[in-house]
Amino acid sequence: MKDIVGVILAGGLGRRLDPLTRIANKHLLPVYDRPMIFFPLEKMARAGLKEIMVVCGERHRHEFERILGDGSQFGFSSLAYEAQIGEEGIAKALELAQGFADGRRICVVLGDNLFRDDIRDELETYRHQQEGARILMKKVSDPARFGVPVFDGDRLVRIEEKPTSPKSSYAVVGIYFYDTKVFGIIKTLRPSGRGEYEITDVSNRYRESGDLTYGYLDGWWSDCGTFESLYRATGLVRNQRLGIPEDCDD
Ligand code: G1P
Repeated sequence: MKDIVGVILAGGLGRRLDPLTRIANKHLLPVYDRPMIFFPLEKMARAGLKEIMVVCGERHRHEFERILGDGSQFGFSSLAYEAQIGEEGIAKALELAQGFADGRRICVVLGDNLFRDDIRDELETYRHQQEGARILMKKVSDPARFGVPVFDGDRLVRIEEKPTSPKSSYAVVGIYFYDTKVFGIIKTLRPSGRGEYEITDVSNRYRESGDLTYGYLDGWWSDCGTFESLYRATGLVRNQRLGIPEDCDD
């Protein structure tokens, strides 16, 4: 079987971080000692992924290229770039990676997701899964900001995107494993109420066909889409760097 390749999604306008993101791209903002996107890229490198595509906004493509280069600083054998024109959501951004994937399965990481643990074991688990999709979850205090799984006992029934009344206290984190069916699924999606092609709808399609597995992240996890979460992520990284024990967040 062909190996799994990595796709990192770094599009979007980062509106919730305005005015920080009027000029700078969200994914290049500092998180303690590195630009944000370095963290998920380092995790992909540590997981053993070698071929990576960055999907970023058209306006910032040259900045990504300047700072990330050919990916050799992370140990990648290749780093490709694709520019997203317009703002149609995460699933549409992912669709741009179809040519790059070229029939291979993909590990997708959102460029604003930071997490403590390596994802090597999850990648291995997915490698043995043969087909379908796999998602990861984390217990959070504010699930309404995320994709939220709905369970019936142990069975995952569906995922609801940013529900006003979350039916569990878990968030689906921005790390997804998809097989090549993902691109066909994206083509059949309709925009959600917020006008975006949702990654949650992609995972729900896999679930409907009984092709979705899931796992949990142990260590801390944070997105960086809001002032609070960016601040929190910065503190978590700083604690890790300085060897300060984690609080009881996870
Ligand atoms: C996106 C996804 C959501 C997921 C989150 C993880 O949300 O739509 O399902 O839980 O990433 O960071 P957004 O970045 O649009 O807030």
